[in-house]
Amino acid sequence: MTVDPPWALLAELTHGCPLRCAYCSNPVELVRRSSELETEDWRQVMAQAGELGVIHTHLSGGEPLLRRDLPEIVAAADAAGIYTQLVTSGIGLDAERLNTLVRAGLRAVQLSVQHADARASERIAGRRRSFAAKERAAALVREAGLPLGLNVVLHRDNLDALDAIVELGLGWGVDRVELANAQFYGWALLNRDHLLPERGQLERARDAVERWRERLAGRVELVWVVPDYFDGTAKPCMGGWGAVSLTVAPDGTVLPCPAAASLPGLDPPNVRDRPLEWIWRESPAFNAYRGTAWMPDPCRGCELRAVDFGGCRCQAYALTGDPARTDPACHRAPDHHLVQEFTARRTSDAAQPLPVPRSYRSSPQPSP
Ligand code: FES
Repeated sequence: MTVDPPWALLAELTHGCPLRCAYCSNPVELVRRSSELETEDWRQVMAQAGELGVIHTHLSGGEPLLRRDLPEIVAAADAAGIYTQLVTSGIGLDAERLNTLVRAGLRAVQLSVQHADARASERIAGRRRSFAAKERAAALVREAGLPLGLNVVLHRDNLDALDAIVELGLGWGVDRVELANAQFYGWALLNRDHLLPERGQLERARDAVERWRERLAGRVELVWVVPDYFDGTAKPCMGGWGAVSLTVAPDGTVLPCPAAASLPGLDPPNVRDRPLEWIWRESPAFNAYRGTAWMPDPCRGCELRAVDFGGCRCQAYALTGDPARTDPACHRAPDHHLVQEFTARRTSDAAQPLPVPRSYRSSPQPSP
């Protein structure tokens, strides 16, 4: 089959992070700082990505500002003709650092926030004074004249504050608000019982998003990442496996999606061993679920197979133990009952377990 070039690269520069968010979708086992790629490795990654056709990179983590060589990595991406966007908690960003990054070629910033209320935001993030740091970071980005997006992972503890979150973004002068309902991979899967909202919360939030979209049309973009556990539709994860995007993990592992390291038998390649071009076009990992030929029934005969691509491979594995099954989020999936049974138990008065905060050092295993 013809393989088009990727247009996006998620560069996970480090798994180190000053926050302890329970919804973190990074793997339970994080890459140690001592195993991270060196500056020169990232220069090579950016040069190869540019040659491959990548036009946009998210410089992410963990917290990418923990990398002292971030300006060099930004400059390498810029030199390769790649648009650079920093995805950050804002902690560690000051005027001098930002100016250095802008001079290196940084084009945009996406700032995470956990809630509109400072105390609630800091409770969810597990770090005191983090909200003030985010507010300062937002002001610096606006002063620098860069496009600013607000990135909010939504779950049971903040969905009811959606109006206030959008107002916060407007007050901070953002161009875009990404409202991403929590996805249950990696550490977040440990906390699914705590994080999963009840249906009424989601319906109210969805109505609020529609109202805000009407009010802000043409001024601020509002992105709503669907809560697939509740919608009965599978999300077109990553725009299709090996279709538009690739992820380079902090240790150089290259993945079709950030969560794919958990899949059995994938044997993901590494930029230390192979060129990005081969990894994208030829590697067994990127071809495992590419296109539609791998699909089981009912995806194989479904008219939506080229729209949702059978949903998410990592979710299929997490819920059924088989990454090649139809994503149970789809109402046509033979395993859809697994999602239905889980969401049916969610009520506003049901007692939920306390969240397990993200930890960089301890690595408990997710419950089955
Ligand atoms: Fe890996 Fe969806 S998160 S395919």
